[in-house]
Amino acid sequence: MALDFGGEVPLYRQISLWFQRAIRTGQLLPGQRVPSTRALAKELRVSRIPVLSAYELLIAEGYLEPFAGAGTCVSRSIPDAFSPPEKVGLAAPEASAPQPKGKRAVSRRALAMRGPAQAWLRGCHGCTDLQHFPIGIWSKLVRRHSRRISREIMGYGDTMGYRPFREALAEYLGAFRAVHCDPSQILVTTGSQQALQISALALLDCDDEAWLEEPAYPGTLQALKAAGARPVPVPVDRHGLDVEYGIRTANDARVAYVTPAHQFPLSVTMSAARRIDLLSWAARNGAWIVEDDYDSEFRFGGNPLASLQGLDTEGRVIYVGTLTKVMFPALRLGFAVVPPDLVESFLDLRNATDTVSTPTLHQMVMTDFIREGHFSRHIKKMRAVYMERRKAMIQAIRDEADGLLEVAGDDAGLYVLALLPSGVDDLQIATRAHRMNLLVGTLSRCYAGVPARGGLTLDYANIEMRNIPLMVRALRSIISAGVR
Ligand SMILES: Cc1ncc(COP(=O)(O)O)c(C=O)c1O
Repeated sequence: MALDFGGEVPLYRQISLWFQRAIRTGQLLPGQRVPSTRALAKELRVSRIPVLSAYELLIAEGYLEPFAGAGTCVSRSIPDAFSPPEKVGLAAPEASAPQPKGKRAVSRRALAMRGPAQAWLRGCHGCTDLQHFPIGIWSKLVRRHSRRISREIMGYGDTMGYRPFREALAEYLGAFRAVHCDPSQILVTTGSQQALQISALALLDCDDEAWLEEPAYPGTLQALKAAGARPVPVPVDRHGLDVEYGIRTANDARVAYVTPAHQFPLSVTMSAARRIDLLSWAARNGAWIVEDDYDSEFRFGGNPLASLQGLDTEGRVIYVGTLTKVMFPALRLGFAVVPPDLVESFLDLRNATDTVSTPTLHQMVMTDFIREGHFSRHIKKMRAVYMERRKAMIQAIRDEADGLLEVAGDDAGLYVLALLPSGVDDLQIATRAHRMNLLVGTLSRCYAGVPARGGLTLDYANIEMRNIPLMVRALRSIISAGVR
C-alpha cells in the first residue's frame, strides 16, 4: 500500500480506499482475515489512529466485519461480482471514469433538447450593466442578513418563496404592471426559465400542442421540449402574435406562450385588439396563456403598458417575470403569478424540479432592496443609462452601417434588432462576430422555420458608450465582407 503523506487525501481515507479496491478486485476475499490495526500501522510506519479510523469506516460501510473471537475480516456478505461506485480523491477522474463501448441511449426528449440554447444566452444575451449597480448598498444588505446564524436562511425555505419578498413583489407588480395578484399566488423561481419550465410541466401533457411565437425566445422552446409538448409556431407581425393564424392552425392548443409587452426577438408590442382576441380564445377553449414579461421596465417611448394578466377577467393568464434584466442574471430570481386554482399544481412541480425553494438569502436582501426604495431608484437610473446607449447604438448604425443594418422594432428593451440585407446569413455573421468577441444574437436562432430576412440582436446593456461605434464598425466590415 503506497501512501501519499503530503497529499490532500487524509491517510485514513487512503487506507480505506485501498481496502475497498482490494475487495472489489478480488485481491481480498470475503471472510479473509485482515492485519490487526497495530500490525498494519507498524508495516505502514504510521500511527494507529488513521488505521483505526479506516477500519471503523470500512466496518461502518460493510466492507469489513469484526471476526468472531478476535481481529477483523472481509465481510462475508459481499457478493462476488461486487463493484462499488468509483471513489473520490485518489485516481484522476479520466482514469477512473468508465469507458462505454459505443453510444448509449438517452431519452428522445434529451435528444430533442440538444442545441446550444443556453450557451447562446450566456454569450450573446449576456449581462446587464454592472458599472451603475449600487454594489455598496447591495453588499450592505447582504451583510445585514448573512452576519448571523439563522434557521430561516440556512434551512429549507418556503416553496412558494419568502413571504415578505412575495408581498413586496405583489405591491410592485400591482402598481407598475397592473398585475392583479395576492402574494399567495406568487411562486418564486430560480430565474424565469424555471417558471416557464414549471408552467409547461403543469399545463401540458406529452404531445399536447402549445402556441409558440415565431420567432420565439429559445428558452421557451427548451421548456416546451423538456415537457414533451408539441410547439406550434404562430407568426408574429407588427401587431404581435397572429391569433387568427393560431386558431386556424391549432385551435385546440392547451397553452399560448407570449411576450406581449416586448416581443422577443422582433421587439414589437402586442396590439390591444390582439390581446383581446388572445384572451377570448383562451376563455372560449379553456386554454392558458403564459405571459413572459421579461424586460418591460425598459420601455423608452410612451408609457409602460399594462400586463395582459391585468386585462384577463377569466384567470387564464400565468404571468412570468424576472429580476435578470433589472438587477443581474446570476441573482436567479424569477417568479410566476399563478391563478389561485393552479397554485397547488405549480407547487407540486416546483417541488419535483428542484426540491423546495430558491435560496432565501437573496430573497431577503431583495425584499429590503425593494422596501427601502433602492429598486425603484435603480430602475429609474438604468432607464436613463440604457436609453442613452440605445440612442447611441441606433445612431452608430445609421452613421456606420447604413444599407447593411436596418433597425427594426419598438423603442424598448436592452437590445436593438438590426435586420441584415436579404440573402445574408445571420448565423455566419454572428460566428465571425463571436470570433472578434462581439456579442450578437441572431434572428434565425429564434425561428422554427426560415426567417424572410436574417437579423442580429445587438445588446447594449453592458457595453460602454465609447465602444458602441467601434462595435458597429467592426460588424460593418464583417457584413460587407459577407455581402461581397
Ligand atoms: C424572453 C426572455 N424571457 C426570459 C428571460 C430571462 O430568463 P431568466 O430569468 O431565466 O434569466 C430572458 C433573458 O434574456 C428573455 O430574453
